[in-house]
Amino acid sequence: MHLLVFATNNQHKVDEVNTIIGKNIRVVTLKDAGIDIDIPEPHDTLEANAREKSSVIYQLTGQNTFSEDTGLEVDALNGEPGVKSARYAGESKNFQANIDKLLLNLGNNPLRTARFRTVVSLIWEGKEYQFEGICEGHIISTQKGDSGFGYDPIFIPAGSTKTFAEMSMEEKNQYSHRKKAIAQLIEFLQQQPVL
Ligand code: IMP
Repeated sequence: MHLLVFATNNQHKVDEVNTIIGKNIRVVTLKDAGIDIDIPEPHDTLEANAREKSSVIYQLTGQNTFSEDTGLEVDALNGEPGVKSARYAGESKNFQANIDKLLLNLGNNPLRTARFRTVVSLIWEGKEYQFEGICEGHIISTQKGDSGFGYDPIFIPAGSTKTFAEMSMEEKNQYSHRKKAIAQLIEFLQQQPVL
C-alpha cells in the first residue's frame, strides 16, 4: 500500500480521489499526515503555485505528494481572475463578493467565454509531474442555482444549458476541470511499475 499526501484539508476532494484511485494507493489529507500549515500561493501562475504546494509538503513529509490549483479564466477580462480566483474580491475569499466583482467588471460585454483550468502537481519518487484539466464554457449575467461553490452559479459549461450550480455533483463531474486533471494523475499512477 502506497501513501500519497494530497496537499489539501478538503476531505471531500480526498474521498473523491480515493474512490477512483484503486486499492494500492491511499490518499490522505494534510491533517492525516500531521501537517498544520497554511500553504502559500505567492506566484502568478497556477503551475507555479501548484508546484510550490506539492514541493513544500514533499519537503515536510518526504512522502509522495500532489496538489492542485484552479482558476477561472475569463477572455474579456484578459484571463482574470485566473490565479487570483479565490481572492479576487479580497483576502476573505468570499464567493458572493467574487461573483459580484466579476459581473461588475464584465458588465454588458457580449464576449462571455471563459474556462476553468486545474493544474495538478505530483511529486512522485522525488520528481515533479504536472497534469491539466480544462472546462470551456461561458459566464451568464444573473446567477442561477445553489449547489457547488465558487463561481458555479454564473458558469455554464459548453454542451450544457445549466450552470454548475444547477447540477448534481455527478453531473458536474461529466464536465469538471478538476475531474479531468485528477483522471490524468490516476492514469499516470496506474502505469507506475511499483504499484
Ligand atoms: P482551488 O485552487 O481549488 O482552491 O480554487 C481556487 C478558487 O477558484 C476557488 O476559491 C473558487 O473560487 C474557484 N473555483 C475552483 N474550482 C471551482 C469550481 O469547480 N467551481 C467554481 N469555482 C471554482
